[in-house]
Amino acid sequence: MSELLTGIAELTTHDGPTPAESTRLTDAAVVVEDGRVAWLGPASTAPAADVRTDLGGRAVLPGWVDCHTHLVFAGDRAAEFAARLDGRPYAAGGIATTVEATRAASDEELRAAAARLRAEALAGGTTTLETKTGYGLDVHAEVRLARIGREVADSVTFLGAHLVPPGVDRRAYLDLVVGPMLDAVRPLVDAIDVFCETGAFTVDEAREVLLAGRAAGLRLRVHGGQLGESGGVALAAELGAASVDHVNHVSAADVDALAGARVTAVLLPAADLSTREPLAPARRLADAGVPLAIATNCNPGSSFTTSMAFCVATAVLQQRLSVAEALWAATRGGAAVLGVDDRGAIRVGGPADLHVLDAPSAAHLAYRPGVPLTHRVLQGARG
Ligand code: NIG
Repeated sequence: MSELLTGIAELTTHDGPTPAESTRLTDAAVVVEDGRVAWLGPASTAPAADVRTDLGGRAVLPGWVDCHTHLVFAGDRAAEFAARLDGRPYAAGGIATTVEATRAASDEELRAAAARLRAEALAGGTTTLETKTGYGLDVHAEVRLARIGREVADSVTFLGAHLVPPGVDRRAYLDLVVGPMLDAVRPLVDAIDVFCETGAFTVDEAREVLLAGRAAGLRLRVHGGQLGESGGVALAAELGAASVDHVNHVSAADVDALAGARVTAVLLPAADLSTREPLAPARRLADAGVPLAIATNCNPGSSFTTSMAFCVATAVLQQRLSVAEALWAATRGGAAVLGVDDRGAIRVGGPADLHVLDAPSAAHLAYRPGVPLTHRVLQGARG
């Protein structure tokens, strides 16, 4: 079955290496067949199809690629959030609350909660999504989260090094993470991550975890620069990680190192706002040539949202990215971090991951912030 979508006022394809070198059509049409883009171009030259849908002057862009979430968990931390509003700072220790609730939940409860969040994300235009382990922190529980993660997400990251569980010897826990835990989750995950921060893991510990992950053939990710300049950003550059995520606190040397190593900085603006940390210096990073991605960081502690649209609007309105830069970061930027080159773009032969907005241009995402603009989402073929 083929469907011809016409009446596209603005089509953002991201089919080239940069927004400027990609096709951006007005008065466009797209043909979708068997979940793939079969044709795209000016509406006046569109071929026939089984079904014709007039989108009535709406904008179409690639589905969001949310490259940083922690979707598999139980419980909520609204009380911790409320305490933050009263001036209490965010700290790594809160993770233990979610670990306790997650360990106590059944597979069915975890699966159902994660599937609800996945559906919510998809309804908002997120067609590709990553999730992490990190709320299990023992071998059995981390494997369980990786398994459920595989069911709900396109990509899974091992985050055994999220926190040393309370009451567990630090050295013994690191040995577990880089040994039996890594071996057990390895068949289920694509990347390894570490929370390199005061209260979580030191730079040397983080390096040990990442090198073990690299030896196991995993992509490297780092939670760095969230609460202070703790060395995680420089470590990501040193190891040529796929990304360093958060980057609220970066030195001039960190920025240069990321640009030189071509490490993607993942902006997580919803977390910045929820934790009352300074917004990551997106403009400074972009101007220095650091590749950027934007993600929600959906989790119960620091960022309980699945809305990529909110993150994009914040990146434009408060972090001074252009609309084109923010759209790219929230689609192609995330795809680069995950190593899924066929996502975040609309190309002939590629998956038909299309996000139709109830607006004539993608600029409306920032021009009309907070307004639910998703009109229709198509999630295309996989594999
Ligand atoms: O990316 N910072 C570490 N991990 C998550 C938060 C986890 C939590 O607070 O439960 C983050 O912000």
